[in-house]
Amino acid sequence: MSTKIKPYLFSGIKATGPLHLGNYLGAVKNWVALQNSDNYQPIISVVDLHTITIAINPAELKQNIFNMTVDLLATGIDPKKTIFFVQSAVKEHTELTWIFNCITPVIELERMTQYKDKAAQHKNNINTGLFDYPVLMAADILLYKAEVVPVGEDQEQHVELARVVARKFNQRWGAYFPEPKSLFTKTPRLMSLTEPAKKMSKDSGAKSYIALSDSPDEIVKKIKSATTDAGGGAQAGDGGKNLLDLLAQFCSDEKIVKRFQQDYENGALKYSELKPVLAQAILEVLKPWQARRQKLFQDKKYVAEVLEQGANQARTIATKNILEIKKIIGLI
Ligand code: TRP
Repeated sequence: MSTKIKPYLFSGIKATGPLHLGNYLGAVKNWVALQNSDNYQPIISVVDLHTITIAINPAELKQNIFNMTVDLLATGIDPKKTIFFVQSAVKEHTELTWIFNCITPVIELERMTQYKDKAAQHKNNINTGLFDYPVLMAADILLYKAEVVPVGEDQEQHVELARVVARKFNQRWGAYFPEPKSLFTKTPRLMSLTEPAKKMSKDSGAKSYIALSDSPDEIVKKIKSATTDAGGGAQAGDGGKNLLDLLAQFCSDEKIVKRFQQDYENGALKYSELKPVLAQAILEVLKPWQARRQKLFQDKKYVAEVLEQGANQARTIATKNILEIKKIIGLI
């Protein structure tokens, strides 16, 4: 029998707000599928240190970290299969960031579009951490010598930077790090319910996304008030297409999905028919997740134990690698 260790997969999610369907379809669904496919050993982290690059008050941060942990467990992250932990619990992430800082050209970070966007959005808080964000992300991935990184396409530039850092390290000190590859989801990108030209994110207000924590009433209301067509045609950024994408993801009856898609293509779609069907389909999928979520909320001790065990597993790999890295570069 082969005892070959499976390659590591790493991904992370910030704790900036509640888990919404955009996060779920763009990332979490894929993580759960990969976790169950047995090809990789997944490592998934709630990246709290990335979260503080944008100002957030302590009580809210703490609550967000807990909520995100619970939401991920409720939607299918299985701590028996996935090494699941909160980033700051494993100090080696920051230690490796510093080492990487010393080989990362400033010019590479100046090119990052996410940095430019966030800097424009938060003019009063353009802090060094915001600028250094991609180096911490490179450290997240490379600390475990992870080979694959399942993320949304908007993160490709950051994964590319991780490859640049790996290459720089290897050129200077000899081959050590693999060059990690992104793994994109096949799911279409979910757009904002209120401004379908933008991706679904918590930046555009609570009406623009559906969170796992939303009540059935809220979900029905949000779908009801969702922006529909800009004027027909299946162009990107179209509200109608976005609702059909949602239906295709959440409705288990293919015939219903097909019928609405055909109506849409023929310009005969009635949103007054689609919207209640869609809301019902989403509610049905969310129901067992919300039940699990409620249970986990009542079992804080279990959640804490899961995170502690995950951090221990991550730390075992991290401490071994960081020791090797420090030896390679002459720190010890
Ligand atoms: N930057 C990622 C995002 O905003 C989150 C993240 C942090 C991440 N570290 C990571 C993703 C490492 C993949 C691997 O979505």
